[in-house]
Amino acid sequence: MSPFLLTRTLPEDATDAALRADVLHGLTGTPKTLPPKWFYDAHGSELFEKITELPEYYPTRAEREILLARAGEIARASGARTLVELGSGSSEKTRHLLDALPGLHTYVPVDVSESALTQAGQALAAERPGLGVHALIADFTGSLTLPDTPGPRLVAFLGGTIGNLLPAERAAFLASVRALLSPGDALLLGTDLVKDESVLVAAYDDAAGVTAAFNKNVLNVVNRELEADFDPDAFDHVALWDTEQEWIEMRLRSRAAQTVKIPALDLAVHFARGEELRTEVSAKFREDGVRAELASAGFALTHWWTDAEGRFALSLSVA
Ligand code: AVJ
Repeated sequence: MSPFLLTRTLPEDATDAALRADVLHGLTGTPKTLPPKWFYDAHGSELFEKITELPEYYPTRAEREILLARAGEIARASGARTLVELGSGSSEKTRHLLDALPGLHTYVPVDVSESALTQAGQALAAERPGLGVHALIADFTGSLTLPDTPGPRLVAFLGGTIGNLLPAERAAFLASVRALLSPGDALLLGTDLVKDESVLVAAYDDAAGVTAAFNKNVLNVVNRELEADFDPDAFDHVALWDTEQEWIEMRLRSRAAQTVKIPALDLAVHFARGEELRTEVSAKFREDGVRAELASAGFALTHWWTDAEGRFALSLSVA
C-alpha cells in the first residue's frame, strides 16, 4: 500500500473561530450576509451531493463530461507529476484525472473537512499502489504550503467553486495560487458559464426543494455551533440572477419580523419582515473574462474546453 499522509495547517479551533468571526461580521452588517463555506457540515455535504444529481443542476454533469473527454489532453499538456486539488471533498471527479495520469508521483487533496480527506485519501492510496497521497487540512483561500514533491505541478480547482468568491477575492486567490507554482506548472479551473436566466435560476431553485434545504442548513449550523435559535421555517429560500454582476445569489428572506438570539456571541439579531440574508454568490463566467482574470494573476490560458451544450468550461493555464 502506498503512503497516506495527513497534514493539518489549520489549528483545531480555527473553524470555530472563523465561524464566530463570519457570523458576527455578517449578521451585524447591512445587508446581512453569511459566507457559503458554512453550508458544508455533514448534513449540508449530503444535501450538496443530492443537488449534484438533480435534473436542474447541470454543472456537475457538464464538468464530468468535459473531464472524461479531456483527461488525456490535460495529462499530456500538463505532464503533471504532482496533482494538487483544492476543495477536494470526496475526490470523486479526480479519479478521471488520476486515471489519465499514470506517471503521477503524489496527489495532494486540500480541504477543510478532515473526515472527507481521510476517507477519500486512504481509499485512493489503497487503490493505487505507487501513488503517494499527502492530504492537507487547509482553507484554500488562506495561505498554503505545498509538500516538497516533484514537478510539474497541476493545481485543480473544479466544480465552479471559484464563483463563490467575489471579484476582489478571486483576484487575491488566483494570485496566491500562482505564488505556489513555478514556471511550467499549470492550473485546471472549472467555471460555470453565463447562460439563459431561467436555466440558471432553476439550477439554484429546484422543484424538489433540495437547494432550499441546503440554503437553510446554514441556519442549523449556526444553531448547533453557536447555540443560536434560528427557525429555518421562518425563512424562504430565494435564488436570483444579478444581470449586472453576472452571478446567482442565494438569500434567505425572513417571513416575519423576528429577533434571533446567538448566545455564544452575546448577540441578538433583528430581521424585518421580508429582510434578506445573502448566503451565497455563484458567479458565472465568459471565456474572455476568465482569460483576463488568469492573466492578471500571472497565468496564460492555453486550453478552453466546454461540454457539448456550452454550459460549463474547464480551462488549463500555465504559470
Ligand atoms: C459547490 C460552489 C460550485 O455554486 O453551484 C449548489 C454550490 N449552491 N447549489 C454552486 C451550490 C447551490 C455550488 N458550488
